Amino acid sequence: MSISFDGRVAVVTGAGSGLGRSHAKYFAANGAKVVVNDLGGSVAGTGGSSKAADEVVKEITDAGGVAVANYDSVASEEGGANIIKTAVDNFGKVDILINNAGNVRDKSFAKMDLKDFTSLMDVHLMGAVYCTKACWPMMLENRYGRIVHTTSAAGLFGTHGHTNYSSAKISLVGFMNALKQEGTSKNVLVNCVAPMALTRMTEEVMSPKLAPKMKPEYVTALMAWLCSEESTLAGEIIEAGMGYYSKVQIVEAPGYIFKGEEVPAPEQIRDSWDKISDMTGALPYPGADDVIRAVFGKLKASA
Ligand code: NAI
Repeated sequence: MSISFDGRVAVVTGAGSGLGRSHAKYFAANGAKVVVNDLGGSVAGTGGSSKAADEVVKEITDAGGVAVANYDSVASEEGGANIIKTAVDNFGKVDILINNAGNVRDKSFAKMDLKDFTSLMDVHLMGAVYCTKACWPMMLENRYGRIVHTTSAAGLFGTHGHTNYSSAKISLVGFMNALKQEGTSKNVLVNCVAPMALTRMTEEVMSPKLAPKMKPEYVTALMAWLCSEESTLAGEIIEAGMGYYSKVQIVEAPGYIFKGEEVPAPEQIRDSWDKISDMTGALPYPGADDVIRAVFGKLKASA
């Protein structure tokens, strides 16, 4: 059965270009009413213009879809609230939120101005927090919500010159992990996608030859599946691009227990490092409580 978004209302932040534009167009082409948010700034997040969002709204409406523009920055509580209000005022509710808006300010940590660090936290992490906060109660009440945060391999694995961006992107995983505990039982499902696509953000580091293979649409297909009614996935991290889709997971090794009452000496930890770090049989856990329970179980079993 094909996936349809008829009757659904989707908010896509940063939808004036790149990945967000592709997501917004897809949802609209498949029946959703869409809020196209974009402040229309540069890749560094400076400046601003209504043009970016307006153009995408025009593309959608010219193709027979339904969309409205919003030009707020996600990086303030009022901005997040107004983005969601735009959806409620025009379409009555929010079913889908794609936290996609983002910018980069790359520099080695030694040279980075801390304002560029907090600014990226404000856009990527707090931007997602503000937008989510504004629609979360409504989604819980409606017993329906699909939220996807846009994370990055830079945060999951690290890249040089990206301390601000990497920190902001991995913090979205923590945000999702905790939200998952509060939303899943009420059918408000939160996931993270780490995209790989050729956009204005990545054009300096990717060859233009890759353009056809690196189309944002590959990422959008995953977004659409995660935001479909039939998907029950929550708390997933998925890397996507170029036709490649791969689940990423945080796992914990079985671990090693020092028996007895004595606190181990650092030398004992050094000498046991192979056992402590042996990932054979490593497991994912649905929540932190499950990890703690498992540790108590291991301690009991080894006593
Ligand atoms: P892009 O630069 O084409 O699109 C980002 C959009 O977000 C722009 O239209 C920009 O105006 C908007 N935006 C920036 N700050 C905003 C704010 N405060 N409020 C509202 N809108 C804002 O870049 P791209 O590649 O489409 O990026 C989309 C998301 O995907 C970003 O979060 C980015 O960090 C993430 N990402 C992209 C990757 C890629 O391979 N293209 C890799 C990993 C993550």
